[in-house]
Amino acid sequence: MTPTLADSTRGVSARVTQFTESVIREMTRLAAEYDAVNLAQGFPDFPAPDFIKEAAIQAIRDDINQYAVTWGDPLLRQALSAKYARWYGMEVTDANITVCCGSTEAMISTLIAVLNPGDETVIFEPFYENYGPDSILSGAVPRFVTVRQSADGWSFDRAELAAAFNLRTRAIIINTPNNPTGKVFTRAELEFIRDLCIQHDCLAITDEIYEHIIYDGRQHIPLATLDGMAERTITISGISKTFSVTGWRVGWALAPARLAGGIRKVHDFLTVGAPAPLQVAAAKAMDQGDEYCRQLSADYTARRQRVVPALQRAGFQCTAPEGAYYILTDVTPFLGMCGGEEFARWLVREVGVATVPGSSFYHDAALGAAQTRFCYSKTDPTLDAAMRKIAALSKR
Ligand SMILES: Cc1ncc(COP(=O)(O)O)c(C=O)c1O
Repeated sequence: MTPTLADSTRGVSARVTQFTESVIREMTRLAAEYDAVNLAQGFPDFPAPDFIKEAAIQAIRDDINQYAVTWGDPLLRQALSAKYARWYGMEVTDANITVCCGSTEAMISTLIAVLNPGDETVIFEPFYENYGPDSILSGAVPRFVTVRQSADGWSFDRAELAAAFNLRTRAIIINTPNNPTGKVFTRAELEFIRDLCIQHDCLAITDEIYEHIIYDGRQHIPLATLDGMAERTITISGISKTFSVTGWRVGWALAPARLAGGIRKVHDFLTVGAPAPLQVAAAKAMDQGDEYCRQLSADYTARRQRVVPALQRAGFQCTAPEGAYYILTDVTPFLGMCGGEEFARWLVREVGVATVPGSSFYHDAALGAAQTRFCYSKTDPTLDAAMRKIAALSKR
């Protein structure tokens, strides 16, 4: 008998059937199948810096093999306190920190720890695709506010954002620098968000994983540093993007102590702890890595320059990202009769470049139907190979 849709999900909880498998991973699979250049998934294809690799090797040689303290190795917690004081003037004490298996686990542990069934979260879209499922897994109801592109970059309508808050709103999730838009929220925007959080007595949960990839002299502003926000912000970040080690799985949540206790409990029962030797390596990298972090934005500026003008010449409509390493382009000129997902599949199959269709970044796929995202955390030869294929596209 042919299996039916009901058969294919039998036994899966109602909660989990509310979201689908990540399209990004599907595009990575297609890239391998068609031997295409993979500008879909957000991971670097170049090596991590030697100093963090040497620190990890040393930690394993030193036999740091057993469970770390569940909320983080003391060395990493000390390094985090020092780093946030040095970079942002933030006072982060031991009681605020939970080290997790990447910022992904920090986000889901935080949401489970602070949300009750029926609570609402406010999420900007296009979004990093985990936030919707994370909210649903926590029993909460996500409300979406669209960020739109103009010639000046990406911005949101303040009245629309204010209207998304109500008596059930418990938290807003902000990702700056942003995946997929490359937007860096300005101080004025963050102050507006701060005022809404205070007015509605809400938490802010900020994903700052791209904090050190920021362009044209902009400064990263952690929302927690704004007046009145330290006691209502959970700051999430990690080493994946800064040190090009997305597979190491080390991240953290910094929260007011009253909330950190809840986050630690969830984290403990989800994963017990992040990889012990890699936490020690992360601590060393953070202690030694300020100069490296400052250079990172310059390195990514050069990669951005290899890609943005080439895409624009080929007919992809986009502005230069302000931070992170993605370009969300408008592909309307290419669409003809097909939709954005079909276009992205065609691009990987026929042109040999894997991207992510914009539909995967919106709760309503139609909103992203004319967009596709390019990731440029790649070596120069990878980017040049991709842009040669893209240039050929405009000659078709
Ligand atoms: C906005 C954002 N947050 C979190 C992550 C995942 O971070 P981690 O590797 O620390 O789990 C990504 C990865 O692409 C991302 O783009």
